[in-house]
Amino acid sequence: MSPEQSVERTLVVLKPDAVQRGISGEILARFERRGLRIAALRLLRVDRAMAEKHYAVHKGKFFYDDLVSVISSSPVVAMVLEGPNAIAVVRAMVGATRPHEAAPGTIRGDFALVGLRNLVHASDASDTARTEIALWFPSGVVEYTRDVERWMTEDQA
Ligand SMILES: Nc1ncnc2c1ncn2[C@@H]1O[C@H](COP(=O)(O)OP(=O)(O)O)[C@@H](O)[C@H]1O
Ligand SMILES: [Mg+2]
Repeated sequence: MSPEQSVERTLVVLKPDAVQRGISGEILARFERRGLRIAALRLLRVDRAMAEKHYAVHKGKFFYDDLVSVISSSPVVAMVLEGPNAIAVVRAMVGATRPHEAAPGTIRGDFALVGLRNLVHASDASDTARTEIALWFPSGVVEYTRDVERWMTEDQA
């Protein structure tokens, strides 16, 4: 693998709207199909304290209280995805924050339309990914390899 393709881990949360709408599997399938490896996965209901920690970077913004109450209102599916440039790749697959601005082909652009019911949280940088993975998966992730990896990550055509 070339140096510009460093393997990264990123945290993805399928928010309550994704689980309630019954499309969490469909969204997860997109990430798998892209070649990202599931390194950890859980369904959980987030309590207020955890929600406040997760959204600490947004504390003080006018929508902070809404964010905290929405993510703790109903179960979510949290996962760690791993792969070359996983952070940027996942952000690109998720699409713009506001669903009506999200490009077709992105998750938000294909499954969401209005308001801020935007289905997915994804880490935005390597430091936030590290902090978020530690918060959501305190006992760590699962180490394993897939035989298919070499067909996707080796440079030779
Ligand atoms: N102006 C806003 N008003 C209400 N909610 C917002 C606003 N901006 C962002 N949000 C909500 O806060 C979440 C976190 O914001 P941000 O980190 O900027 O977006 P993203 O989820 O694309 O990384 C968004 O996914 C969205 O649910
Ligand atoms: Mg964000």
